Amino acid sequence: MANPICDQTAVVVGASSGMGRAIAVALAREGFHVVAAARREERLEELERQLHGAGCAIEVCVTDVTQLDDVERLVERARQRTGRIELLVYATGTNLPARGLSVLSHENWLRLIATNLTGAFTCTQAVLPVMRAAGNGLIVYLSSGCVQMPDVSGVAYQASKHGLVGLAHGTRVEEKLNGIRTTVLFPGLCDTEILDQRPVPTPREVLDQALAPEDVAAAVLFLARLPARAVVPEMQLLPARL
Ligand SMILES: NC(=O)c1ccc[n+]([C@@H]2O[C@H](COP(=O)([O-])OP(=O)(O)OC[C@H]3O[C@@H](n4cnc5c(N)ncnc54)[C@H](OP(=O)(O)O)[C@@H]3O)[C@@H](O)[C@H]2O)c1
Repeated sequence: MANPICDQTAVVVGASSGMGRAIAVALAREGFHVVAAARREERLEELERQLHGAGCAIEVCVTDVTQLDDVERLVERARQRTGRIELLVYATGTNLPARGLSVLSHENWLRLIATNLTGAFTCTQAVLPVMRAAGNGLIVYLSSGCVQMPDVSGVAYQASKHGLVGLAHGTRVEEKLNGIRTTVLFPGLCDTEILDQRPVPTPREVLDQALAPEDVAAAVLFLARLPARAVVPEMQLLPARL
């Protein structure tokens, strides 16, 4: 039997732009009650207006994943409605213009790892008690195709994306008997704001072949629709022509 999605709660972290925003839209249209989190309040409010206008259930919660209090407040807010959180999507991520080893500072390494990896751990730790109590939960982490294909996205970025693999698999193995599943998703190039951080702009003809955020959202929807007895530990989603 498929998971009945209606009235399930999904927390999407990194929902103010790009893939996270598209995922929040897709989940809300599917019938999830979405709790959308990120730092930029005006972006979240715009998303809330759009989805309320379409008759979808969404609330927003300004959250900086590097702040433990923010993450705990987010999870408590999401928990309050039904006592359950069926889905957590960690779509938060950042990169640095000064990413090459010759220019990467210690401070920037720490900042990037805090956002891309430690934030995912913090969200996981916060949501696990809620999922354990319900005996059910799915966590989807957005890693990157650079795990399978090392590139020039920088060692801090790549280390953070490899770290998510360990977090996802370790959580799945430790928590499977509590009904908790994890998927680590590896998207290839996708035309989003994170590319503005690249030291050299990506040519338009390459961007034209990239994934759209909605493609990643469709993959997350596929995962969310799976019955609780099934798990996809890893999923690669690549632009077909690049
Ligand atoms: N685009 C690609 O080609 C590509 C490929 C592979 C993997 N990815 C990964 O996909 C994920 C989504 O990125 P995207 O491409 O959609 O880029 P994006 O549009 O820049 O989205 C990044 C999201 O992360 C949020 N974020 C950043 N720092 C945060 C913090 N401290 N606390 C809370 N939220 C924070 C941003 O919101 P605020 O700034 O409002 O906080 C934004 O919503 C990232 O993990 C990225 O590494 C991207």
